[in-house]
Amino acid sequence: MCGIFGYIGGRKNSVELTIKGLQMLEYRGYDSWGIATDTEAELKVQKKVGKISEAKLEDFSTEQSQLAIGHTRWATHGGVTDVNAHPHLSGDKSVAVVHNGIIENYQEIREELGRENFISDTDTEVIPHLIAKYRNEGMSFKEAVREASKRLQGRYAIVAINHNEHQLIAARRGSPLIVGVGEHEFFLASDIPAFLEYTQDVNYLDDDEMVVLDETVEFLKIDTGEPVEKRLVNIDWKAEAADKGEYDHFMLKEIMEQKDTIHRAINQDLDQIMHIAQTIKNAKGTFLSGCGTAGKVSMTAEYFFSIIAKRHVNFAPASEFPIYHHFLRPESLLIVVSQSGETADVLEAMSAAKKKGAKVLSIVNVEGSTIARQSDYSLHLKAGPEKAVASTKAATSQLALFLLIASAMRGELQEGRRLLADVASQINDMLNPRFLDYIKEVAQAIKDQENTYIIGKAQNYPMALEAAIKIQEVSYIHAEGFAAGELKHGPIALIEKGTPCISLIANDEVKGDIINNTIELKARGAHIIGISPEKHEVFDEWIKVPDVGVASPLVNVIPVQLLAYYLGVLRGNDPDMPRNLAKSVTVK
Ligand code: G6P
Repeated sequence: MCGIFGYIGGRKNSVELTIKGLQMLEYRGYDSWGIATDTEAELKVQKKVGKISEAKLEDFSTEQSQLAIGHTRWATHGGVTDVNAHPHLSGDKSVAVVHNGIIENYQEIREELGRENFISDTDTEVIPHLIAKYRNEGMSFKEAVREASKRLQGRYAIVAINHNEHQLIAARRGSPLIVGVGEHEFFLASDIPAFLEYTQDVNYLDDDEMVVLDETVEFLKIDTGEPVEKRLVNIDWKAEAADKGEYDHFMLKEIMEQKDTIHRAINQDLDQIMHIAQTIKNAKGTFLSGCGTAGKVSMTAEYFFSIIAKRHVNFAPASEFPIYHHFLRPESLLIVVSQSGETADVLEAMSAAKKKGAKVLSIVNVEGSTIARQSDYSLHLKAGPEKAVASTKAATSQLALFLLIASAMRGELQEGRRLLADVASQINDMLNPRFLDYIKEVAQAIKDQENTYIIGKAQNYPMALEAAIKIQEVSYIHAEGFAAGELKHGPIALIEKGTPCISLIANDEVKGDIINNTIELKARGAHIIGISPEKHEVFDEWIKVPDVGVASPLVNVIPVQLLAYYLGVLRGNDPDMPRNLAKSVTVK
């Protein structure tokens, strides 16, 4: 995980730019941070434990510099300490490196370079040491970075600087890195919002490629050193989309944006949707995969395909997917879902499918992301940057796209679009201040509880699992989701007087069953929060949602997002940056 940033160009306040850039990337990791610049005397590194959002410019020595690199960390190798924070220096302090990823052969390289020469517990520290070693053997900075990159096994995006060389050099294999191209200046970042304020023109660095930035830009292959031609891509995101605006937190802002994002998601090229529908129909075996929230959406899509398109598809979490390779063949199709388009487990699932010759369709939010570029077909959610770690607006957009595809498979694309347009406008009505206040009251009533259970049935069963993720990650309350009918086979033993239980109900063929399961919970003393289009006497609290038929997961998940948000805030947590988590998990 981790966020990396680099600047080189005409501006003299590179430290300030780097701090701001890292602050935009903080969602990727927030254990510790660090910055390196080149001064006349030496490479100057400033790093410490804590959140970059809490860092103040006054705390820095901001000597004028036209080049800087920075890092915000989510620890993997080595604890959260100042020493383990990036950038890391070579032994002679001539080279500084920031890194996102995991170097699998770092122990072997440490051994070779002499363990006693290392001061941190990180895998990263071997990289500046290797680069400095090659420099001392007479290689240019560019050749030394290339040679060092060739030695590294695992996944990485690295940016290196060398004392007294006016160059930023970066290399990538498996972790994201994007070059922002301004006028006589360049930016490097793990994600576009970090430099969106300055330029919307980008070059994507691909796996096994390097870039050398000074007054010019040069892309090359790590293995051979051959030059690579790149296409400049203009990014259609507004800088303010990556800003909190009037809201206290990104999570609330992104929940509220669902008033618009579903409209944007369904505004697709309809021929492409028809083509994808046909591709699924033609496939001999369709699989769905994703992680976390995107995984729960994929699981919901299994129900959409079954109920709407009468088509059997198979879901597996991406971390479990590779074992399914026995069932894959060239005629199979894997559909992967990912907000970031960078999740390592999803990339692994894709490579398992590709090894068997199967085709891959991806549904991603970040255009140009690795997953999008490594797919045979890709659909873009157009939800704009999602910054809070807990995924909200991306999830409902993903649900909308699946519903649209399933409708197209049934020959009812226009009907599907109309239903979703109606859902979007009903969500707009639902997200009014009274609705938010009521959910805050519900949160207030249960905020000191230690356990919460959520039940759902049919396409709302995966949403119960998603609800549990939301509550866990934002409030740190123990939450579990169940298929409503499974309760009586064990989980009901956990219910005590006052235990909050949330029922996700729709006006559908399983309504009677889930109401009965809710009554069973109530009979054991549960405090029932019913999320449902209709009131029922079993509810202690009723959160009214629109009646949208088969699209119910899109409206039922939103009150839970809000509930999780308010629980987090009321319990004093930072909902945007939950402990131990990162937005984009680029390690296995
Ligand atoms: C992390 C995030 C989750 C997200 C999951 C998948 O675990 O904390 O919020 O759902 O990754 O991310 P993706 O970018 O692939 O959708």
